[in-house]
Amino acid sequence: MVVGLIIAVIVLLMIFAGLHWASMPPSRVETVNVRTLHLEGEFVEGNLGTAVDPDGKVTVRLVAQQYSFEPQCIVVPQGMPVTFRGTSADAVHGFIVGTTNANTMLIPGFVATFTTTFNQTGEHLMPCHEYCGIGHEAMWAKVQVLPREDFLARARNTERMTCVPR
Ligand code: CUA
Repeated sequence: MVVGLIIAVIVLLMIFAGLHWASMPPSRVETVNVRTLHLEGEFVEGNLGTAVDPDGKVTVRLVAQQYSFEPQCIVVPQGMPVTFRGTSADAVHGFIVGTTNANTMLIPGFVATFTTTFNQTGEHLMPCHEYCGIGHEAMWAKVQVLPREDFLARARNTERMTCVPR
């Protein structure tokens, strides 16, 4: 009876959360051809990294593969919304940016996307957090959060940005 009660409470909580926050499975699932990922389209090597669109939107494009991220170091501005768009070239990967809430899975054939804002400058580790093979624990990148002005000054000179060498 106790177990039945616990299950009932959990199911009720799920129903409450689903209705209250209008949460639902993803409705717009974006796909990408994993076979031609490196040859054409959005995720070719020259298009990876951070770009500032003419309308001022910041987009980071990245690809995960066994056992690295491309780019290895991602640069983002402080205090501006940043949209990540990523996918995987082989196995299921994922990443989390330091202790922030930037966190997603990267699944071959699908584009993972989310938007977040980094409030503090600094450098974060960005490890792969889905077990993807024997090299999993060595798979990580870095994220540099630059002061907004520094970031925008760099963006004027480069179409695709990666980190500032230190
Ligand atoms: Cu990639 Cu674990």
